[in-house]
Amino acid sequence: MKIDVFTLFPDWFEWFLEQRHVANAIGAGSRLECIDIRRHTPLSGGQVDDAPFGGGAGMLLRVDVLDSAMRAHYGTDPVEVARRRRVIALAPTGRLLDEALVEELAGERELTLLCARYEGFDERILEHYASDVVSIGRYVLSGGELAAMVLCDAVLRKLPGALGREESLHEESFSAALDGQPEYPHYTRPAEYRGWQVPEVLLSGHHERIEAWRRERSRERAPGGDASSPEP
Ligand code: 6GU
Repeated sequence: MKIDVFTLFPDWFEWFLEQRHVANAIGAGSRLECIDIRRHTPLSGGQVDDAPFGGGAGMLLRVDVLDSAMRAHYGTDPVEVARRRRVIALAPTGRLLDEALVEELAGERELTLLCARYEGFDERILEHYASDVVSIGRYVLSGGELAAMVLCDAVLRKLPGALGREESLHEESFSAALDGQPEYPHYTRPAEYRGWQVPEVLLSGHHERIEAWRRERSRERAPGGDASSPEP
């Protein structure tokens, strides 16, 4: 997978790129490239944003500035780019990122992410240069960069080779192996700590009972499941 991130803060992603599973994904052939929007602005003084028409607080990323950056990178009209590949604008008003959307995006060969700071995007960017608008939750962040990293983290770890062990994906929360339900609880040594016991069944070595116990706990954690009274 090849991911292009358009941002005013490309250096924020340096830390992200060093993280193990991201580095693994890149080692296995994926790419994550950050394009500095400001480097491509046609405006003087490195200007990229402007005040909203009609008044109001905050600044908006200008449509002409993003056009220049996308055109410089892809060598074509950004409207065409959005027809050829998923171009995802990160904004709190967007479609909520969930496991289904992550799976969908992990199946793409190329993605483009658009990050805005300040108050956000000129609406024409969302309308004409983005194929999707995605939000990571119902709260407001001061920019799209952290949301872009969340999306990349969730997507890249789905790709072969990103995780240490292939099985780590198999029964994780929301996976098909668990019928889309949250994962069951996990325990490790010590088997007892401050009087808190690990459920006995997990120490039993009885694989069918363990399996049944895990399914049950997983169901309880699902929305509408009875999570209030977990059995020991
Ligand atoms: Cl994608 N962007 C911003 N600025 N805030 C958010 C968000 C995105 N998702 C949740 N809050």
